[in-house]
Amino acid sequence: MAKGLFITLEGVEGSGKTTQAAILGDMLRQTGRRVTVTHEPGGTRAGETIRAIFLDPAVSLDVAAELLLVLADRAQHVREKLRPAIARGEIVISDRYSDSTTAYQGYGRGFDLKLLGELNRLASDGMTPDLTIVLDLQVEKGLERTRARARGTGRGSDRFEGERAEFHRKVRDGFLAIAKAEPERVIVLDADRPIEIVSAEIRRAVDDLIKRLCP
Ligand code: TYD
Repeated sequence: MAKGLFITLEGVEGSGKTTQAAILGDMLRQTGRRVTVTHEPGGTRAGETIRAIFLDPAVSLDVAAELLLVLADRAQHVREKLRPAIARGEIVISDRYSDSTTAYQGYGRGFDLKLLGELNRLASDGMTPDLTIVLDLQVEKGLERTRARARGTGRGSDRFEGERAEFHRKVRDGFLAIAKAEPERVIVLDADRPIEIVSAEIRRAVDDLIKRLCP
């Protein structure tokens, strides 16, 4: 049986994670691998219910409540979906994971990073990605993309998209700090380029990972 792998895509709003997760999933399926593409918050039945509360701009949440909600979502996601898929030898691609909590609730909201690290470990049951790709982009550009998308679909901004640019700058700095602290796990790609260029670089990084871990 092929060895299971866990890959996460991270980044600020509008950095193209969802598009790239789908492209990567399709590319890997074409090589004959079994792939699960999933996302946080959400990815399970309980998670989608949590997600609705988490993103609703009409719901006001204390920082601790916000953090515990997204961790509850992760605890369920890891145990119900991620671990079993990896145990079946699949490649799991998650659009956001623990680094989003560190970047948004830690760097963005200011929650204590040390305590957050411990809570993240509890929620993830120690499950760490084999590779994390941060799609990096100036926050103004990303927010413009999400606002254009919101206008196009007629839906309003969610609780995070409605935050000030200053908040999103702290989140971006958070992702870059994580990448700097863990260079063997995390790579940063410039997302301000055409989709095909970025997807080719992601593919190269994933091929390297597969060569390294599944020779
Ligand atoms: P989503 O619609 O998935 O946005 P995106 O396309 O930007 O990924 O919304 C997820 C939002 O939830 C996003 O604004 C980031 C936020 N979030 C956190 O604040 N903490 C977390 O741990 C996770 C997973 C997401």
